[in-house]
Parts: sequence; structure tokens; C-alpha cells
Amino acid sequence: MIIAIDGPAGSGKTTVSRLLAKQLGISYLDTGALYRVLTLKALEENINLNDGETLQKLASTMNVKIEGERIYLDDREVTVEIRTPLIDKNISQVASHPQVREVMVNLQRKITYCKDYVVEGRDITTVVFPHADYKFYLDADFNERLQRRYKELKEKGLSVSWEHLEEQLRKRDEADFTRKVAPLRKAEDAIYIDTTNLTLSEVVNKLLSYIKKKTIFR
Ligand code: DC
Repeated sequence: MIIAIDGPAGSGKTTVSRLLAKQLGISYLDTGALYRVLTLKALEENINLNDGETLQKLASTMNVKIEGERIYLDDREVTVEIRTPLIDKNISQVASHPQVREVMVNLQRKITYCKDYVVEGRDITTVVFPHADYKFYLDADFNERLQRRYKELKEKGLSVSWEHLEEQLRKRDEADFTRKVAPLRKAEDAIYIDTTNLTLSEVVNKLLSYIKKKTIFR
């Protein structure tokens, strides 16, 4: 079973997906983390981020390991490193290359093959798993998403100005929504959930109610 979840930065996808998977007793894949690891590796190796072919090679040879919430690159833990503003700033450029996306889509299908997974990202309901058992699109007002991202970084002890973060979120939204290949959009048959005024458990319960309903009537 695949539960596919898409939505913009700060919509709560990651936390919700993690909790949902836990409640259902199945695995969870944060596909953004894979793009983040690739961006980190590309920056560390001083690769030109406009060079899709070199990035594609890097993506197909990179050694990523996911253990629960921990992410490893070449056996080094990079869980916190991949969520810094430096990665946020450069990731859209890396994710824009069709060659890179092709490798990533195959990787995501390989990781989840024949298993039960909650998978979240930007193109999961539209490109990676258009025939997923369940498809959701999580959204929230821009200001709410900004606030969540600010809080998340503060809690990690990373210093960042509100204005800078606002500018970065706007830029990332624009890149996610207008990308030529696999832009973020709600799949026609995905269930839309506005999380602006909902608590985390309210969102998870909402998703669970749809999942239970469909399972009962199958
Ligand atoms: O979910 P996130 O904020 O960690 O994702 C970071 C970036 O990675 C996002 O702005 C675009 C890219 N991404 C993507 O292009 N496709 C995905 N399935 C997941 C993430």
C-alpha cells in the first residue's frame, strides 16, 4: 500500500507523514531528504549546480541510508546538516534538472517496491505514484508556513532572520510551483487538506478517517 502526500514547504507534510506512518505501523519516506542529501553532496564537491549531467551521475552513485528519522551520506549522519538555510537556498536548482529527477523517481520506487509506505514530497501523487492507494495534498497559508519553518529552525538552534526566511520561502515556492519538470500541483484525485488552523493530531486524524473510510468500503 502506498499513501502519497504532496504539498508546499511548511505545509506540515513531513511531521504528519511520519506520525501517520507510525500510527499505521508502516514505513515512511521523506523524498525531500533525498534531494537535500544530493544538494549537500554537490555543494561539498563544488559541482556546478547548473550541470544536470554531472548531478545525475552524482545522484545515481550517492550512498544514502535512511534509518528512521536519521539520514546518512557515505555513512556520515547528515540529518541536521541537510535542513540548513544553505541547502534550502540551493535545492531548487538541483531539483530542477530532469535527469536528476529521473534518478530520484527510480530510487523512490526502488526503496518502496512491494512494501507499505507513506511517501511525501512534491511530485509523489502526480509523477512517482499517480496510482497510489491514497493521495493527499496538504496546504497552509503562506504566513503559517513561514512561522512553522522559523520555529523549526529556532528549535534546532539555527539562527536565521525572519526577512531572510520569508524571501527564501517565496523563492522556493516559486521554484516548486513553476518548475518545468514535475511542478508541484494538486493531482485531480488527491484529497485537499488545509492545515492552517489544524493541530498536528487533527490533520493526522483527518487523513486516518479517509483511509479507514475507503478501506471499509473497498
Ligand atoms: O520537502 P522539503 O522541503 O524537504 O523539500 C525540499 C525541496 O526538494 C523542495 O523545495 C523541492 C525538492 N523536492 C522535489 O523537487 N521533489 C520531491 N518529491 C521532494 C522534494
